[in-house]
Amino acid sequence: MTSHHNFAEHSAELVQRVNQYLDKLLSQSSASEQLQSAMRYAVLGGGKRIRPLLVYAAGILSDAPLSALDAPAAAVELVHCYSLVHDDLPAMDDDDLRRGQPTLHKAYDEATAILAGDALLAMAFQCLADACNEYRDPVALAASIQLLAHASGGDGMVGGQMLDIAMAGSYPEKERVEQMFRLKTGALIHAAVMLGVHAAKAAPDETMQNRLSMFGESIGLCFQVQDDILDVVGDTDKLGKPQGSDEQKDKPNYALRYGLESARERADSLYATATGCLTEYADEANPLRWMAAYITRRDY
Ligand code: IPE
Ligand code: IPE
Ligand code: MG
Ligand code: MG
Ligand code: MG
Repeated sequence: MTSHHNFAEHSAELVQRVNQYLDKLLSQSSASEQLQSAMRYAVLGGGKRIRPLLVYAAGILSDAPLSALDAPAAAVELVHCYSLVHDDLPAMDDDDLRRGQPTLHKAYDEATAILAGDALLAMAFQCLADACNEYRDPVALAASIQLLAHASGGDGMVGGQMLDIAMAGSYPEKERVEQMFRLKTGALIHAAVMLGVHAAKAAPDETMQNRLSMFGESIGLCFQVQDDILDVVGDTDKLGKPQGSDEQKDKPNYALRYGLESARERADSLYATATGCLTEYADEANPLRWMAAYITRRDY
């Protein structure tokens, strides 16, 4: 694949590519009209597609064929979209705006939001399993399924969301908040990077796997620190979700708890750690470098 130098332009094409793939997957569902339309609402109404882009960017570095990256890119985005739907529910963050639109439980109802989320999670694994012909062997596919399952469940995103809820109204030590971030957000972002690696034609060497694993962990943590900064200083119209939501609900927001300056320093140092993992690579790592900068510097 070309365009290592200009991933900025290439990324727009890749967003379109995964959007088309997602649209097709969703159109194959024979669920009831209500459920189908809710699932489409949750997935196709915008979103930066950072996790799919990380799959593609890590895949480019690992020399994975583009066609082998579509299913893992879509699968990780489906898990992410489900997590947003449930995150916004009244029992969780109770937010009304997502991606510039009413949240799913507002546009439909709570039962539909819960069920659409459940269905998207199952669809993610279906999509990955259905892509078996794209993988070099069944073991690589099994490793990918394992990776996504681990990152999504109680030892990953869901576990982090539980800690996040438990920490509302409290002032935990930084280390505990960071551990919660690693789970609720970092796990899926790390998985996105490693899914790209696992889709390679040849088994990637262990050194590369270790470097990219550390890259994924650092940029995943950085992502949530930046999300917390934007909850404090961002703009609702630009964010497409309500600025100030964390303060209003007394959530364990990094910038609110430890100060904006300390949050910015942490994001910068995590960016440096992440890009430091790529120093051995030349232009083929530019997409990941571009993603790291995007995640750290974004304002929405
Ligand atoms: C928001 O993720 C939720 C978090 C994990 C902090 P994104 O900022 O990637 O949301 P979209 O997909 O672009 O809407
Ligand atoms: C949510 O973190 C992480 C998820 C697993 C969805 P936030 O609650 O901060 O995400 P936003 O700000 O609502 O997107
Ligand atoms: Mg939340
Ligand atoms: Mg939230
Ligand atoms: Mg947030």
